[in-house]
Amino acid sequence: MAGTLGAMASTEPTLFDQVVNLCKRRSFVFPSAEIYGGFRSTYDYGPLGVLMLRNVKDAWWRSMVQLRHDVVGLDAAILSPPQVWEASGHLDNFSDPLVDCTGCKTRHRQDQLNDPDVCPSCGESGTFTEARAFNLMFKTQAGPVEDAGADVYLRPETAQGMFINFKNIIETSRKKPPFGIAQVGKSFRNEITPGNFVFRTREFEQMELEFFVPPNEAESWYEYWMNERYQWYLDLGIPDDLLRLRAHEADELSHYSSGTSDVEFLFPWGWGELEGIANRGDFDLTQHAQHSGQKLEYFDQGTGERYVPHCIEPAAGATRSMMAFLMAAYDEEQVNDDTRTVLRLHPRLAPYKVAVLPLSKKDTLLPKAEEVLHSLQPHFMCDYDITQAIGKRYRRQDEIGTPYCVTIDFDTLEDNAVTVRERDSMEQQRIPVDQLVNYLDEQLGL
Ligand code: GAP
Repeated sequence: MAGTLGAMASTEPTLFDQVVNLCKRRSFVFPSAEIYGGFRSTYDYGPLGVLMLRNVKDAWWRSMVQLRHDVVGLDAAILSPPQVWEASGHLDNFSDPLVDCTGCKTRHRQDQLNDPDVCPSCGESGTFTEARAFNLMFKTQAGPVEDAGADVYLRPETAQGMFINFKNIIETSRKKPPFGIAQVGKSFRNEITPGNFVFRTREFEQMELEFFVPPNEAESWYEYWMNERYQWYLDLGIPDDLLRLRAHEADELSHYSSGTSDVEFLFPWGWGELEGIANRGDFDLTQHAQHSGQKLEYFDQGTGERYVPHCIEPAAGATRSMMAFLMAAYDEEQVNDDTRTVLRLHPRLAPYKVAVLPLSKKDTLLPKAEEVLHSLQPHFMCDYDITQAIGKRYRRQDEIGTPYCVTIDFDTLEDNAVTVRERDSMEQQRIPVDQLVNYLDEQLGL
């Protein structure tokens, strides 16, 4: 990582500033509704951000669904009735303790105060009200009538979609424990202290697996998923000195969990959670069975055994992980008299895999460059850039993490070969056009 860590007394930009600036400048992430002055802590993913975020989610789906025989997918509704959240415990328990300062009228999360008696806004002590529980769920109304019967909630986690579809899936998918249901999608929380760019926002994307197991296997599957999930971040290029697994203390556990460990990343401000792996026991299926009156259990026709499966849940943030991948990949290095900014992203996560760059804008080169581009597009997400000097265009691709640049020059018209430049080493090789797809495929190793 380049830059300085945190907000030290320095004029040097911090890594945080560098990544946030890059995100805006190169169209990864924009503040939402910016032409209206912005909408606090809400972000839009621009042309490169949408590609990278999709790559993060696809990498998760590939490892959690595609490469396994014991996990199926789901895309459940975002709007849900209060019964779901009553049963899950979110109506009663999903809250933060809030205090108001009677001096300066600001509101704070009690559990995040450095000194529980001193207001961080005005510095006065003894001015706080009693703490009140503030529920983090967004409530809205379904249909034209605004009465209590029309209340619905935007889901604060994707997980409940899996629990309320357990019966449907076990009856239709021929899966039996141990098996899992995976989902990727938006969740919403009325966070009191959103911030640190896309680390904590009110609208974000999650990637969650609910893995249902026989009760006596819960502990070993919990260990299994902790290791799998830690390895996933390593495999996608986060160095192990920026990652750790941390077990929750008893007083940190959520209302449903008998054991949770977080995969944490060393952000510029300190360690922060990327994902929690929780042993939820039979809490959710039992709660939904009681509230819905339906049997949510597994009956083994072979053995005649009947039980409520226990659930191990690896729950990750897609938007938050994307930020961690960007921070870990950001680098600056001296090349001759120049500073080269390079995103050393894993090729699977890079927005573009290949950039096609005709050496000059001359008409003679463009038809060949377009022909090469069209031959690559069915295989890889490609960029095409014909403006500015070639050195500048290489730098522009380095800065957004493109692993390979393919340059079409005047020799190409003679020998039907192109120059392929690798992002990290900047080494160049001449490759025949008819071998280009295979060559890039092998090098990218996707
Ligand atoms: N179903 C369990 C669950 O939702 P969580 O720890 O509250 O657990 C899982 O959320 C992951 O979702 C977190 O590790 C984090 O990556 C992401 N996440 C949670 N709240 C977030 C927020 N306000 N903004 C961005 N990501 C968030």
